Order: sequence, then structure tokens, then C-alpha cells
Amino acid sequence: MTATQRVTVRVPAKVNLQLAVGPLRDDGYHDLVNVFHAVSLFDEVTATEPGAAGAFTVRVEGEAASQVPADATNLAIRAAEALAKHAGQIGADGRPYAVDLLIRKAIPVAGGMAGGSADAAAALLACDALWGLGLSREELMEIGAGIGSDVPFALLGGTAVGTGRGERLTPVPATGAFHWVFALADGGLSTPRVYGECDRIRAEAGEEVAWPSADEALMAALRDGDARALGAALANDLQPAALALRPSLARTLDVGRDAGALGALVSGSGPTCAFLAASAGHARELSEALTSAGVCRAAVTADGPVPGAEIVA
Ligand code: C5P
Repeated sequence: MTATQRVTVRVPAKVNLQLAVGPLRDDGYHDLVNVFHAVSLFDEVTATEPGAAGAFTVRVEGEAASQVPADATNLAIRAAEALAKHAGQIGADGRPYAVDLLIRKAIPVAGGMAGGSADAAAALLACDALWGLGLSREELMEIGAGIGSDVPFALLGGTAVGTGRGERLTPVPATGAFHWVFALADGGLSTPRVYGECDRIRAEAGEEVAWPSADEALMAALRDGDARALGAALANDLQPAALALRPSLARTLDVGRDAGALGALVSGSGPTCAFLAASAGHARELSEALTSAGVCRAAVTADGPVPGAEIVA
């Protein structure tokens, strides 16, 4: 017998407050300083016991669901399989671990908000409970790091600095709540492609790639809960590459800045653009300005920081 028959986990999207991309490593990744911030835009993943032992299946509903693979390449399935392997494949009842996953998406797909990583993190937490494994969050984060660089943060939440390829996390103390608007774009951008374009632009410019470090002004702004200072310190080294691949985003950023955003940047590898507002009311105004200018598919408001993946039912 397993602990329970159905578990639902809610998991947040992230925005990068600072994404400093260092040199390309031999393993194809870049050393980063990545300041992650979890925001109140959530996917939900429900894990249910399937009829057939050993089966791993997934269904996807909601935001751009048709663009998410519903097969073994789905990051949530890969996470569930990695967890089953970690636990020795066979449960206490003598049957191989198995799960039916249902993902309800609100986080934009391939949007630079770590939606796939969030689903993987949620699947780890949900399957851990479904199968009664009782692993610690740290153990789940370690398994998650093998699935994708952003998975551990989706389990941690809050605000944190990621180093290495982004998976080694140190929580950052932050005061109060920050109000955000996200301009969602049509279609996604491939993360490897954006990193590749960043390398290409740097090589063409003959740029010396510096070792990345955390921005002290940004850390102070978070500590003090100073939205104006945070807006001024937002930075993303992938932004020139995302703009080169999707030039229309420059106008989206301009519209948000003209409407009084305290800061505007491409979220992660894009194409979602993030805007910091002075208040919840200001966020709604920014959202309306972006929508009425026709520079995005939709604009959504969210607050941060919020906790990482949590069991809600
Ligand atoms: O680890 P994850 O699957 O999220 O990364 C997707 C891709 O993004 C990698 O295959 C790599 O091309 C790029 N990446 C990188 N450096 C990082 C993180 C990701 O080049 N630190």
C-alpha cells in the first residue's frame, strides 16, 4: 500500500532579477550568477496511481498545452522516472512505481519563466508523497538538478542566488512583496538557442567574458524592500541574444518603460518580458498599457517572492 492515492502540488514560475552569464564550460553549460525570484503565477500537477504498474503517463491542460510534449520527453515524466530510479524502482507493496500526471499550465510554455522545470519540481514532490518515500526537500533538489538547472529553485522558492549552472542555491533575504507584470509573447524561444546566440554575439564583439558575480546594489534593494532600487538593478545578460532572435521585444520593453515601470527586462531566455511596478494598482495600469498597445499576447500581474512547490491537496 502507498501512502495516498492522489496528490496535487502547486508550483510557481520564476523571473531572473540578475542573470550574469559567465564563460562557456566544457560540458556545454555556462557558469552563472542567477538571482531567481519566485512569482505568483502557478502550474498545478496532480499525481494519481495508474491502473497499470510501471506506467508513467502525462496529460497537459491550460496555457499552450498543445505545445507541451505528452510523452516520455516531458520534464515531469523524466522527474518521476528519476525519482522511481532513486527509490529502487519497486515500492514496498512489491509493485514497480508508476504514476498518471495531470499538468494544469498557467506558466507560459518556453517563455523564460522555467515552466518545464516547475512541472518537474512539482512531479518530484507529488510522487514523493504518492509513493510514501519521505525524501527531504534537499534530496528532491539534488535529483531535480539532474533534470534541469532551474528545477532545484522551483522546489526552494522565495529569492535565491544560483551559481554553477544555476543549480547551487543560496537563499537571499528579501523584505516585503514586489509587484510584477509579465507580457506573454506568441510562441517560445529555445533556451539552448538563446545561450548559443549570446556566445555568438560575444565572439563577434571579441568580448572578454568576465567571471560573474552577484550585484551588491540588487542584494541591498532586496534586503531593504526598495522596489525603485530593485528596478534600476535588474539585469539579464541573455537579453541582447533574446532581442536579436525576437526584435519585436524591444518595443514591448519600451511600452512598459514609457508606462512608468520601475524596471523592464526579458525574463530568462525570453520571450516573456517582466516589468516591476510600484504597487498592485500600478501593476494593473502597466498591464492595461501593454495590452492596449498590442505588444503582447496577454499581460498578467503577479507578486513575488512566493514559496516553492507545495502540496495543496
Ligand atoms: O539545464 P537546462 O535543461 O535547464 O538547460 C537547458 C539548456 O540551456 C542547456 O542545454 C544549455 O544549452 C543552456 N544552459 C547553459 N548554461 C546554463 C544553463 C542552461 O548554457 N547554466
